[in-house]
Amino acid sequence: MSLLKKVQIGNLTTGNNVFLAPLAGIGDRSFRIIGRRFGAGLTFTEMASAHGIANRSINTLDLLKISKKDRPAGIQLFGSNPEIMSLAASICNEYPADLLDINGGCSVRKVMKTGAGARILGDPKRFYNIVKACVDASIYPVSVKIRLGLSEDTINVLEIADAAQAAGASMLILHPRTARSKFSGKARWEYIGLVKQSLKMPVCGNGDIKTPVDAVRMMRRTGCDAVMIGRAAIGNPWIISNTIKALAAYPEEVETLLPTKDERIECAMDHLNMVVAFKGETRGIREVKRHLYRYLRGIPHISGVRKSIFEIATKDEAMKRLEALMG
Ligand SMILES: Cc1cc2nc3c(=O)[nH]c(=O)nc-3n(C[C@H](O)[C@H](O)[C@H](O)COP(=O)(O)O)c2cc1C
Repeated sequence: MSLLKKVQIGNLTTGNNVFLAPLAGIGDRSFRIIGRRFGAGLTFTEMASAHGIANRSINTLDLLKISKKDRPAGIQLFGSNPEIMSLAASICNEYPADLLDINGGCSVRKVMKTGAGARILGDPKRFYNIVKACVDASIYPVSVKIRLGLSEDTINVLEIADAAQAAGASMLILHPRTARSKFSGKARWEYIGLVKQSLKMPVCGNGDIKTPVDAVRMMRRTGCDAVMIGRAAIGNPWIISNTIKALAAYPEEVETLLPTKDERIECAMDHLNMVVAFKGETRGIREVKRHLYRYLRGIPHISGVRKSIFEIATKDEAMKRLEALMG
């Protein structure tokens, strides 16, 4: 009785049910390509502003670029105005993708202040209109990624989930914390189970999966159709392949195969090469450092070298430091 399965999201059938989370500032094309290499059934772009897309801002449109190697992938939109979301969704139709995801979970002040992100949970009617506008405009199936509600006193996840389904969404992704709690406390997986029982469409559970065993537990406890891994995959794409193995083997337990030091360094080098190729050296190096730092986590006796990663200015320098750690 394996827990590993394909997921039907509208007209998209994923190869498996282990998804890589959208991560702004992290989840660019390089990160997603690596996620796919390790088997992720679905990846997501960093959240892209509907306003930015509607205004054809080059930087925002850049976020929509998905290549064959990171597909199947969803474009994630954030916004608060149904008309602008509709326009943005129709512009997204020009970009190869497999899914359109609506961000109803971002708790960053700058985003919530504009009425977007998790703020859209505060007005179920408006939320319905946003989802409906995207469903009507998009050639892709639409998913929504939400939290429990704005705050402890206003948890309305079941109402919101129902509105999403009624508006024609094809999957619900739940990170079961409130917007106010940001990332504190524990993700309340019991709500994933409640949402699953109340919906016909597939439900993807997210939040605090740190090991493959956590993913098995989440699926067993909640009955969710898919799991989504975010922070734990940064510098550690092995969690994806190990989770796939753990779900496939259930109820047998399998040993988690940890990468060797050289495997980590090789993957870091690949990542570095890709980021620099896609973004150029100056921006690429600036952005890839946070990844390199995470790839090197857990390698004994290198804490000094690891911290010095943040001083690197060129790709050559980064490569030399990584090479020196090998063997
Ligand atoms: C650095 C960072 C960036 C994130 N960016 C996004 C985003 O662009 N869109 C989104 O829906 N969620 C975003 N999230 C939330 C994650 O997708 C995920 O819901 C959350 O981290 C919980 O899952 P985890 O415990 O597996 O990390 C972000 C989280 C982090 C830590």
